[in-house]
Amino acid sequence: MTVPQDAPSTVTTELVYYLPPLDGSAPYNDISAGPASGQPQRNWREDRHQVEIENIRGKEDSVTLDTAGFQFFRRAATHKAFTNDAEVEREYYPESIELIKELTGASRAVIFDHTIRRRRPDETEDSPQKRQPVPQVHVDQTTASAVARVHRHLPPSDAPALLRRRFQIINLWRPIGKPAYEWPLALCDFRTVDTKADLVPVTLKYADRNGEIMNVKYNPSHKWKYLKNMEPDELVLIKCFDSKTDDGTALCTPHTAFSDPTTPEGAPLRESIEVRFLVFYD
Ligand code: OGA
Ligand code: FE
Repeated sequence: MTVPQDAPSTVTTELVYYLPPLDGSAPYNDISAGPASGQPQRNWREDRHQVEIENIRGKEDSVTLDTAGFQFFRRAATHKAFTNDAEVEREYYPESIELIKELTGASRAVIFDHTIRRRRPDETEDSPQKRQPVPQVHVDQTTASAVARVHRHLPPSDAPALLRRRFQIINLWRPIGKPAYEWPLALCDFRTVDTKADLVPVTLKYADRNGEIMNVKYNPSHKWKYLKNMEPDELVLIKCFDSKTDDGTALCTPHTAFSDPTTPEGAPLRESIEVRFLVFYD
């Protein structure tokens, strides 16, 4: 199948934002019941809105990690199979660490997990072994969860010193096997996010601990972008947290998968991998 890269520059689609629980209780996603339960339990409400999403192919340079909170690059990976987690850790992790250090100028990059997503249109299940695209606007971390990650994944002897310097959490996301023709990833330009009004911490209840992510309230100012038919040799760095809060630097990027109305009939289903990094600077 050949797909022209000259499709319209903007699509209109529905995104799922956040509304708080009606009873005023603190919002949560409960995934403690594990894979068998299928969908996570949650107490917050969905808020669906039609938005425009701009295809920025051809002007990828208009967004950077420090301005918009995300940045596209073309860099092939040597590992291409992504069928076996142990192999991914042995082969894809080391090359990704070198790559993110090169692309960001960081002095140290530590991977704390990865997620492979394959769309399965006939299944609602979204368990750890069968992750699907995420059709909800979110940010993967909060300040509390980012700091907790440093303590969890780095030696106690290193963590305090690392926390005194600039650190970030960044996801390295790329399609697997073929371009992401369908259910691509939309990213929201940080310059259009009102961090105080739009971002809401939501507890993530695991069986053994609590984490925290951010859900996002609708704001008509949000400017959404994507890279249409993004290829396996392309990647996007998605900033989930930055400790540099003093000068307008992008702190994070709301993002979501979406149904692209310009996807050709019969396009193969999206597969992707995202690797999550703690990123440190000297
Ligand atoms: C992510 C993410 C969702 C998707 O990479 O953090 O939310 O649909 N991905 O790929
Ligand atoms: Fe995410």
